[in-house]
Amino acid sequence: MSQTLYQRLGESEGIARIVDDVMAAHLANPLVKTRFENIKDLERAKRMAREFFGAGSGGPAPYTGKDMVAAHKGMNISEQEYLAATDDILGAMDKNHCDAQTKNDVLAILYSLKGHIIRV
Ligand code: HEM
Repeated sequence: MSQTLYQRLGESEGIARIVDDVMAAHLANPLVKTRFENIKDLERAKRMAREFFGAGSGGPAPYTGKDMVAAHKGMNISEQEYLAATDDILGAMDKNHCDAQTKNDVLAILYSLKGHIIRV
């Protein structure tokens, strides 16, 4: 495989499109929508998500947000919500024509983060 995950996600432009679609999916998903409706600064949250996916997939720009435990501490996020959010991300990747290998790579990263997000 010659391209990095960051390149396969479409670099910063592709990641920005995916993040927009992920946020729209969260806001339409009955299992998680209230969590995201309650965010005070949605633009900042999307910027942090773009940075996180960019840096985490091998992109050149740093992630400047909170670590995953700090970002989700006290929210009491359930396994069901975690799975719903993961499905939203994979759905947004489908919409943006990411291939199966790219989705599997992102899924593996998301799965590795679950202990930092669920009921922390
Ligand atoms: C699937 C893996 C997940 C990843 C990679 C992720 C990533 C992030 C990132 C990067 C931030 C920004 C941190 C900052 O503000 O500095 C964030 C914030 C947030 N996350 Fe997650 N998250 C995940 C799952 C979830 C789930 C399952 C929920 C709830 C259903 C959730 C709810 C939130 C909320 C509400 C905030 C915003 C806090 C605020 O700005 O007020 N996240 N997340």
